[in-house]
Amino acid sequence: MIDTEGLTKKFGNLIAVDKLTLHVDAGEIFGFLGPNGAGKTTTIRMLCCLISKTSGTATIGGYEIGNKENSLKIRKLIGLVPDNVGLSEHLSAYDNLNFFGKIYDCTEAQRKDSIKRVLEMLGLWEKRHVLAGTYSKGMKQKLAIARALIHDPQILILDEPTANLDPEASKTVRDFILQLKGEKKTIFLNTHNLDEAQRICDRVGIMNTKLRAIGKPQDLEPMASGRKTVIALEQVTDDVVKALKKIALKNLTVEGNTLTFDVFDPDKENWPVVETIVQVGGHVRTVNVVGLDLEDTYLKLVRSSA
Ligand SMILES: Nc1ncnc2c1ncn2[C@@H]1O[C@H](COP(=O)(O)OP(=O)(O)OP(=O)(O)O)[C@@H](O)[C@H]1O
Ligand SMILES: [Mg+2]
Repeated sequence: MIDTEGLTKKFGNLIAVDKLTLHVDAGEIFGFLGPNGAGKTTTIRMLCCLISKTSGTATIGGYEIGNKENSLKIRKLIGLVPDNVGLSEHLSAYDNLNFFGKIYDCTEAQRKDSIKRVLEMLGLWEKRHVLAGTYSKGMKQKLAIARALIHDPQILILDEPTANLDPEASKTVRDFILQLKGEKKTIFLNTHNLDEAQRICDRVGIMNTKLRAIGKPQDLEPMASGRKTVIALEQVTDDVVKALKKIALKNLTVEGNTLTFDVFDPDKENWPVVETIVQVGGHVRTVNVVGLDLEDTYLKLVRSSA
């Protein structure tokens, strides 16, 4: 549904997006993660034909970005929830949506149907005649989502839709995104929120000017450096340390009565260690394997990217 190949954007000497190549399937929720200034917003602005690319290619629903004729087709395929909500504050929610529907050439009947459908879905129907300027932040964010859906687009692109929302409003937005996935929409979600990405995204890309990694959240977790075994003993004696040094564990550290070492295959590698400890009179209390989570992977990839 979305394909980019070497997509690049330069602002003068600054490279904001460097040779981005990625593919987003129809019907998937793709999370685009990265720190401030990573090029996430710039990427979606190129995809939505709001700014020109410097080089590379991208196609949305089979239409290549970069020519005027396709821009109109692409805009009809996409609903964009921008990072700055940008509603007309002096208009009611209903009139905001009606105005947008007209921009997208929806007929009066389509607008009527669509406005009712999206406002009901987002729980704003009762407040449709209230001025958007008096809406709370969460309500404005929902209205921006409603606006992006007014022309029933196949692809929804959201730029940090839950930034500044309280946990309950964030959950409403997340649940709504999942509901749209159920309607076979393709979702491209810019976010800083790793927990959010982990909860709802089928795949994530970690971006920092270049794409650093891409995959299912659970596949990226152990990517940065693997897992560690943590063994707590009643007491780490000299005999235990001597015996363990003989079996060459990787990155063995001792802290108080806890031993930690790198492990690749815990099922095979842990039991000989426990056996060695027991043989020299050690008492094992607990054995745990700890993996890196998405946050560790994210931080490692983002920090290592020069
Ligand atoms: N119109 C512009 N002119 C010049 N530089 C720009 C412009 N837009 C973005 N940039 C620069 O491009 C880089 C990427 O910015 P972008 O807004 O895409 O980052 P982002 O990943 O969305 O960050 P954030 O998480 O803070 O929203 C930044 O260094 C930014 O200063
Ligand atoms: Mg941004």
